[in-house]
Amino acid sequence: MAFKKVDHVAIAVPDLEQGIALYQSLLGKGPEHIEEVEEQKVRAAFFGVGETNLELLFPTSPDSPISNFLEQKKGRGGLHHICIEVSGLEEHLEQLKKQGVQLIDEKPRIGAHGKRIAFVHPKSTGGVLIELSEPMADH
Ligand code: CO
Repeated sequence: MAFKKVDHVAIAVPDLEQGIALYQSLLGKGPEHIEEVEEQKVRAAFFGVGETNLELLFPTSPDSPISNFLEQKKGRGGLHHICIEVSGLEEHLEQLKKQGVQLIDEKPRIGAHGKRIAFVHPKSTGGVLIELSEPMADH
């Protein structure tokens, strides 16, 4: 059970093509990976930045959590969450629960890249949505 690294920083965008074009010009390269994550109703574009990644998130449905977020931001997008890679995700969730930390997911679910993920509520983290992720054992 350990915190390993910041796996990605996620930015919600109101237009995925424009978002990709913007970060392509900022970073001087295109995304390594684009994936639709059905469970979260998003399309995600990943740009590698050193040891970590920027993840652009675009909603694929009006009832996507990203649609709600963009509405709150009046359609402008912005920083959505920070993801920390851990080992021992279940133990981390148990430990956090014991500490009285509010979890959005008490059990891991499957996110992009087939990783097991769980979200921690911003109420317990100083206002930042935090995702914990753990690669599948056979990856
Ligand atoms: Co994420």
